[in-house]
Order: sequence, then C-alpha cells, then structure tokens
Amino acid sequence: MLVNTIIWTGKSVRIIDQTRLPGELVYLDCRDLDTLWQAIRELKVRGAPALGIAAAYGVLLGIKDFKGSDSAAFVRRVGEVCDYIGRSRPTAVNLFASLRQMRLLAENNRTRPVSLLRSVLQAEAKAIFEEDRAVCRAMGQYGAELVPSGGTLMTVCNAGALATADYGTALGVMYAARKAGRKFRVYALETRPLLQGARLTAWELMKNRIDVTLICDNMAASVMRDKSVDVIFAGADRIAANGDTANKIGTYMLAVLAAHHRIPFYIVAPRTTFDLNIADGTQIIVEERSAEEVTSFGARKTAPAGVKVYNPAFDVTPHALISGIVTEYGIIRRPDARNIRRLLKGTQGQGR
Ligand code: MRU
Repeated sequence: MLVNTIIWTGKSVRIIDQTRLPGELVYLDCRDLDTLWQAIRELKVRGAPALGIAAAYGVLLGIKDFKGSDSAAFVRRVGEVCDYIGRSRPTAVNLFASLRQMRLLAENNRTRPVSLLRSVLQAEAKAIFEEDRAVCRAMGQYGAELVPSGGTLMTVCNAGALATADYGTALGVMYAARKAGRKFRVYALETRPLLQGARLTAWELMKNRIDVTLICDNMAASVMRDKSVDVIFAGADRIAANGDTANKIGTYMLAVLAAHHRIPFYIVAPRTTFDLNIADGTQIIVEERSAEEVTSFGARKTAPAGVKVYNPAFDVTPHALISGIVTEYGIIRRPDARNIRRLLKGTQGQGR
C-alpha cells in the first residue's frame, strides 16, 4: 500500500497531514503559500525529497494569483516566493535544489509571456515529482542486494513513502528487497522528540506488512548487540562533497554504535540530496527547533518550566562511519570526496 504523500491538484498542494498519524490518515489542501509554508514548518509534510517537491509546488501556489502580463514582474514574484519558501526549513538541500531550479527556469525565460512562464514552471514542478518516483525505484533496486535474507535491519526517523513521491529511500530498499523475495525484520527507532519512527515508520511498515518492532532510541546499542542486527539503513537531508551526512538527530549515534558492533551502516539518498558546493559536514546548517518539542509529550509537560533545552533536528555523521551511500546511480562504497565524484560526475543535482 503506497500513500499519496503529496500531489498537485491544479489549485492546491494536497498533502497527508503527518502530524495526525498514526491516529488518522487525513489530507490537507494547501490552497495558498502561507498554509503550505506553515505545513512545512510544522512537519505536516516532511522528509527531504518530499520537501523538494513541496517547494516546487509551493512556487506554483505563490504565482497562482499573479495578475497582469508583465513578465519581469512575474519573474520577480517567482524570486520572492523562492526566498520565502527557503526560510521554512534550512537543512534538507532538496528544498533549495528545487527552488533554484524553478528560479533559474523563470529567469532563463524572462522574455516569454506570463502564460508560457506559468506552464513551463508547472511542467518543471511535475518533472521534479516524477523524477523522485523513478529515483526511489532505482535506489531500491541497488539497495535490495544489501539486505540479507532472514536478516535483521534497523532504521531511524522515516525515510519511506511518507517522505517521498514514491516508496522512499531507506524504506524503499526494504520494499524492493521484499519484492525480490527476501524475508527480514526491522527495528525502528522511535526518533525523539517528534517520533517520526514511531508515528510514521512503524505505521508505514505495518501497512505494508513488513515485520517491524518499535524501540526507543536509547535501546539501539543493546538491540544491536542482543538481536544480531545485520545492517542499518538511514535517509539523508544533505550530503557534503566528502560524504559527511546530515540526517535526523540520532543518526550519528547509530553510526557510532554500528562501528562498535561492526554492523554495516548505509545512507540511502538521491543525487538531489548531495550538496557538492560544501566540502564537509561542518558547513551544514542544522535546524534547531523549539524547546516545547522536548519539554512536552502531547499536551502533557514532561520537564520543569524554564529548563534550558537544546533541540537540534539533525546531526552530521562523518563519512568515515558510513559503509556506503545508495543512490539512483549505484552504491558509493567507502564514500569520500573521490569516490563520490567518481560516481556522480556528470550527473545532475543540487545547483543544476
Ligand atoms: O524532520 P524530518 O522529519 O523532515 O526529517 C526527515 C529525515 O531526517 C529523513 O531521514 C530524511 O529527510 C530522508 S527522507 C527520505
């Protein structure tokens, strides 16, 4: 069962409101840019590839009500919309890659009539969506070979259908392996503080009849040791030129533990998640979120009022701890600047 995480209806961006899962599967029609911006901010739509698609569709929302035939003014509007969407969340590079693509396209066609500019941008947003579908399938194919039959896997956050236009990155590998006839079980970390692992991954894998067991984040080490975890798959929000990878907070911890237990640790991410403009992970901006996400559990306060809180949404895993990065072009083993360049040379991605 695959879900339609995000679609363009022609008038609105329809998303699954992921803050309502697993309780209810509810769609939200974002009919204006502010509603979509807020939905991104509040993680109603989330996950790097889905954010890339949301950004492209957000541009369509932002130009929907543009009146008149002044192409230069229209292109300026596209620029303003892109700047605005770019202030929603800072870490997932897919969002910025899509915005850059949409902005460039508008600028390169600035002398064309507004009606043509509109249709060109619409086609581009659709292409970004379609490309993600194909890319998920390709990553799944490459990654499936890493799943041992009868094996035990581990994952963090949600890098599945809810984070993409198709069946996901890290979870896509699992869906592809299952389709290839492999049987395996998965330990999913709950992923504090917003519980994407518990609310989304557990829900998604159960819906797809994959054997999933939910654990708290602080159980990862003992589960690795006591349950013979064979391989770990995680997604990514931004990968630097040397392979350092930003993903949901807790991913670095998993990679460190995997090294200690000699468990292969793979990142699964499309070309659009690579940011070859930055040399290493120190240059990745990590989003910090509000203290309330840590001091409350639903409506209930779980920490004393006024306590100091540090709440980074992501962490950066050094490339030396990553066994390989599964992309739509193949697996980059021992990812470093040289091996990444070798596989991705000539391919399109951030900055295209
Ligand atoms: O804060 P989120 O839920 O947007 O974080 C998502 C992740 O960290 C995912 O692992 C990543 O975006 C890859 S999704 C295919």
